[in-house]
Amino acid sequence: MSKDVTETAADSSADENNHDGDVVARAVDLVKIYGDVSDETQVSALDHVTVGFKRGEMTAIMGPSGSGKSTLMHCMAGLDKPTSGKVFVEGLEVSAMNQRQLTDLRRNQIGFIFQSFNLVPTLSAEENIVLPLQIAKKPIDREWLDEVVRVVGLQDRLSHRPSQLSGGQQQRVACARAIVSRPSVIFADEPTGNLDSKSSSQVLQFLQDSARKHGQTIVMVTHDPRAASYADRVLVLADGKITRDMAHPTYEQIFDVFSNGDAAEAEDGEGEDEQ
Ligand SMILES: Nc1ncnc2c1ncn2[C@@H]1O[C@H](COP(=O)(O)OP(=O)(O)OP(=O)(O)O)[C@@H](O)[C@H]1O
Ligand SMILES: [Mg+2]
Repeated sequence: MSKDVTETAADSSADENNHDGDVVARAVDLVKIYGDVSDETQVSALDHVTVGFKRGEMTAIMGPSGSGKSTLMHCMAGLDKPTSGKVFVEGLEVSAMNQRQLTDLRRNQIGFIFQSFNLVPTLSAEENIVLPLQIAKKPIDREWLDEVVRVVGLQDRLSHRPSQLSGGQQQRVACARAIVSRPSVIFADEPTGNLDSKSSSQVLQFLQDSARKHGQTIVMVTHDPRAASYADRVLVLADGKITRDMAHPTYEQIFDVFSNGDAAEAEDGEGEDEQ
């Protein structure tokens, strides 16, 4: 069930900017250190992470609080700069981009879904969904928009403002907004963290369908083994390192990792750091 991580790392570093196959997004020897060298509070948030994400694959990233999950997503999406190492999306080196290129990348290649929805309160659901297209001055593909709206089940909520929608509905608007421009990869940071179980399943089902039916690449951070079991692959981070890489794990297998072993070890490691 679990794959040796060093083997995965070796595979993907063989050709670091390889974009032949299906690898859409790739991190190569990524290091992120927060704080100054002289600073006692210096934190190593990512510790030489090498990983690739394939087209159409839904990956869940798990791990204890502070293990570097959000940092990894932010560095991969061009929202934060790594201290060293490289990030590639569609073969383009994100870690070497200037601000203008990063803006372009985020408009055209990347979708981001946050835990806190991040919708514009003064705009309707539909206006929120098409906002990225408008900002990027891209035409609206009506047929695709209708399909996305239908799949997230928002047909009769399109004219509502975020304050008139439930949390689950707001997150479904955010999902529709992330996928409507057909990005190369969607990063979702605890997309179901604020949702009840019914809304969670709807959002997770949507993300899984996007990957399976539309070849959408999805990287999702979650603390919930149930949510992670929707993914094709589960990575576990601990202290800024990938400690597990599991293909198609069942809920029970994911649950086991966290009930005996990794999670406890990682928590111990975190404790040592702080001493
Ligand atoms: N802007 C920052 N400045 C300083 N330290 C930071 C900053 N952002 C994150 N860190 C530190 O980096 C480490 C990794 O943080 P990160 O947010 O990636 O963790 P996480 O795995 O997403 O945790 P959680 O599950 O709580 O969201 C933590 O020790 C955190 O305190
Ligand atoms: Mg986080």
